[in-house]
Amino acid sequence: MYTSRISGLGFYVPEHVVTNDDLSKVMDTNDAWIQERTGIKERRHILPGDGNTTSVMGTKAARIAIERAGIDPNDIELIIFATLSPDMYFPGGGVQVQDQLGIGTVPALDVRNQCSGFVYALSTADQYIKTGMYKNVLVIGSENHSGGLDMTTRGRGVSVIFGDGAGAAVVSRNETGAGGILSTHLHSEGKHKDELALQGPSTGYWVPQIIEEDPQEDIPYYPYMNGQFVFKNAVVRFSEVIQEGLQANGLGVDDIAMLIPHQANLRISQFIQKKFGLSDDQVFNNIQKYGNTTAASIPIALTEAWEAGKIKSGDLVVLAAFGSGFTWGSAIIRWA
Ligand code: COA
Repeated sequence: MYTSRISGLGFYVPEHVVTNDDLSKVMDTNDAWIQERTGIKERRHILPGDGNTTSVMGTKAARIAIERAGIDPNDIELIIFATLSPDMYFPGGGVQVQDQLGIGTVPALDVRNQCSGFVYALSTADQYIKTGMYKNVLVIGSENHSGGLDMTTRGRGVSVIFGDGAGAAVVSRNETGAGGILSTHLHSEGKHKDELALQGPSTGYWVPQIIEEDPQEDIPYYPYMNGQFVFKNAVVRFSEVIQEGLQANGLGVDDIAMLIPHQANLRISQFIQKKFGLSDDQVFNNIQKYGNTTAASIPIALTEAWEAGKIKSGDLVVLAAFGSGFTWGSAIIRWA
């Protein structure tokens, strides 16, 4: 059995910065409320006409990751694309990235696990590499939230949180002789599927139905979030799945060099940090700058942490995510 490692990382965010004050001009909100509840100061939004889409941003991040991995796009043997905001209902983002990168007829797989999407995608890549089937897998998380948010006061409980962006990792067969992805741990609990969801358009709530019904009454095409319920579940599941991963490898909290939690909410990250007694140097957060970019948040944060020299060979890096589904997961990595 082989092991895998992350051989290249990249991210891309749109240039357009949207501050909390900018949001307060279009809805009844304010900088103090947003910062106190979420830690977010600003986020990036695609601007109409700037050329960005979910797949385009994913491709931009992927190009950087592939170059840093020291390989050619045509060395990629599988593309895994995680998003909840695809350019099209179908086909998925994976084939669009494949086309944009000019990669041949390799398989392209889409993952729909929302905020846990990157960890699910990484876990999938790891399994393919462990079995020896592939040597280089491109894993992308990318989101265009701004195009689908309710930017009025009605949507403020959700819309202030989310931002656009993409992150990518090349996952390669580990030929360094040590470390790599030690394990991944995935979970879901479908009974809470309605607590953080976007109902339509879907075959259950199709476009003609939406148009016929009064769009002001019950809005199925904007995300719904039961914020406090999500918060309470998130802090429990984050803790559990980090512990599960550490225990599976005979490791403890003291072994963590860097925890990169999905950037759901700074208060959630701080709760986990405190619970595990981790120092500021052991936890990386950038939600202050980008908001919650769901499937993109971990690869963006991982890339920024790595670029800042905060992740070095031999470090124990823990990734953990929680989100809609509910779904959650962790990855325990000895950086190689
Ligand atoms: N600006 C100003 N006021 C706002 C607001 C905004 N953007 N959004 C909501 N409010 C108001 C509400 O209308 C409510 O007003 P009321 O008391 O007059 O009814 C009040 O603030 C409190 O709302 P509530 O929803 O109870 O706030 P909260 O303290 O639970 O914070 C979240 C809301 C969303 C920040 C919080 O629940 C949270 O972070 N949840 C987890 C979300 C998350 O991590 N999601 C991603 C998961 S992957």
